[in-house]
Amino acid sequence: MIKVEHLAKRYAEAYAVNDISFEVKEGEILGLLGPNGAGKTTTMRILTCYMPATSGTATVAGFDVFKNSVDVRKNIGYLPENVPLYPEMRVKEYLSFRAKLKRVPHRERKTKIADAVDRCRIVDVQNQIIGTLSKGYRQRVGLADALVHDPKILILDEPTIGLDPNQIRQVRQLIKELGEKHTILLSTHILPEVEMLCGRVIIINKGKIVAMDTPANLESQLKADNHIALEVRGNGEKIKNALSGIKGVRRVTWRDKGEIANFAVESEKGTDVREEIFSSVVKNNGIIREMTLAPITLEEVFHQITTQEQEVTA
Ligand SMILES: Nc1ncnc2c1ncn2[C@@H]1O[C@H](COP(=O)(O)OP(=O)(O)OP(=O)(O)O)[C@@H](O)[C@H]1O
Ligand SMILES: [Mg+2]
Repeated sequence: MIKVEHLAKRYAEAYAVNDISFEVKEGEILGLLGPNGAGKTTTMRILTCYMPATSGTATVAGFDVFKNSVDVRKNIGYLPENVPLYPEMRVKEYLSFRAKLKRVPHRERKTKIADAVDRCRIVDVQNQIIGTLSKGYRQRVGLADALVHDPKILILDEPTIGLDPNQIRQVRQLIKELGEKHTILLSTHILPEVEMLCGRVIIINKGKIVAMDTPANLESQLKADNHIALEVRGNGEKIKNALSGIKGVRRVTWRDKGEIANFAVESEKGTDVREEIFSSVVKNNGIIREMTLAPITLEEVFHQITTQEQEVTA
């Protein structure tokens, strides 16, 4: 549904997006995950024809983003980063204005608006002035706007930003439902969002794609056996030093709680140092109370991937 090849966008000196390629398949919810300034919004603006690219190609529903902007826009519903709502308008009035702008034929407008209002659960506020709505409801009006011409594809730029936890849950649920009917590309820097909603995730950092996989695969890719949590009764300091000396161990962090100490042992990828840990603790008169392979969360994957570059050059 969306195909991006070697896309790049350069502002003055720097590349905001630098040679990215990816595809979004029909029916998929793909998450674009990245820290501030990664290039998420830039990518979305190019795909929605708000901005030209410096180089590369992109098609949406088979239409070239740079040559067929009218057809592209017909197929896309876009929820921008800052939803440009008119605060003095009433919800329905606004949606009607937007539907007209999007050239929804007059005879279809009423049903299309009613449908969007219904799907985004804003029936109760449809006659309210937008400026008086809570942020969560305003976000839903933005989503209704994105939906009103019934596009195949939805592009949602940080759809839950600035919402309270309840609103976040509701908007996520809504997106999940929309995913049953639409192909969705959404951006976020919130990891649980990706885990909850997306079948696939692209991690983008400094304008480049650094990883692309299912959330589960990304986790297991780095999980393996190199994060071990340990609880020991004994001399924490001594044991910490012993653990640090084991071949393959990269880092040991620990917390002393009197007679009991907790350790987090990180070893090189692909190594399994559990047996060495065991004998090393015993040798230092410690008693192991617990040893587990700590599953790495997507949060850690994200941190590792997006900070790797800095660590290498540091
Ligand atoms: N109009 C512009 N002129 C110059 N630089 C820009 C412009 N727009 C964006 N940038 C730069 O491009 C880079 C990518 O910005 P972009 O808004 O795409 O990031 P983002 O991933 O959406 O970040 P955020 O999570 O903060 O929304 C940033 O370094 C930003 O400063
Ligand atoms: Mg952004």
